[in-house]
Amino acid sequence: MSLRLPARLLLLGAPGSGKGTQSSRLLKVFPQIDALSSGDILRNEILQKTPLGLEASKFMQRGELVPDSTIVGVIASRMKREQTSADSGSWLLDGFPRTKVQAEALDGMLGHEQNINLVVELDVDQDVILQRIESRWVHPGSGRVYNIDYNPPKVPFKDDVTGEPLVKRPDDTAEVFQKRLDSYNTMLHPLKEYYSGKDVLVSLKGNTSDVIFPQLKSLIEDRFS
Ligand code: AP5
Repeated sequence: MSLRLPARLLLLGAPGSGKGTQSSRLLKVFPQIDALSSGDILRNEILQKTPLGLEASKFMQRGELVPDSTIVGVIASRMKREQTSADSGSWLLDGFPRTKVQAEALDGMLGHEQNINLVVELDVDQDVILQRIESRWVHPGSGRVYNIDYNPPKVPFKDDVTGEPLVKRPDDTAEVFQKRLDSYNTMLHPLKEYYSGKDVLVSLKGNTSDVIFPQLKSLIEDRFS
């Protein structure tokens, strides 16, 4: 589906709210959108055992946020490399910015003309999220996400594309997951305030599989096509 105006999107939501899942579905409908997930970038660095990955994994294993200065540097260089900040196209950020400091840094990097023009909060009940995390399995090489009830792999516990084994994310244990939720809840209010002040924040509520996606798709069509 084509878009007449550039969509510069941020998906905001608690861990497990479905940001990655909604992103993949959106990219199938709007293939012209470039997507960047801070969590996927960090997990890839960990997989490759880079200095950044080693540093980030200490925080991620504890369910804490990676320091603002580190993540801002990573995203800045990635956006520069992929030229998402330079072209006039459409892009989608998942997981960044996550604090007000990061939001201000991103605005500084992009400049007024290129700022985020739609922030969508995925508002999912947190008890629903906890159930989903128990059923989440991932393919570490690609970041593809499955859920044994909602979107199971074709062959149990194997990636659909490579056939490689799926694993549990190390930060999906009950204790670490609770810390990630707490951290999200602490950061959410200032971040929402920041984007409401810019008049770009929309909240979509839904707990069941296909409630949020049609709303998200229509929102993007209405605003940008
Ligand atoms: P990140 O990877 O961003 O993790 P997160 O925000 O905790 O989000 P998740 O990936 O857990 O969940 P999701 O919302 O994408 O849900 P999903 O689609 O998988 O970050 C990880 C860590 O990296 C952070 O803790 C932090 O340490 C660090 N980090 C990252 N960015 C940072 C930043 N900017 N600053 C500092 N540190 C940063 O869905 C969840 C499950 O539910 C799946 O199994 C899925 O199949 C299923 N599901 C999805 N939608 C539905 C549905 N509608 N119905 C039923 N099941 C569903």
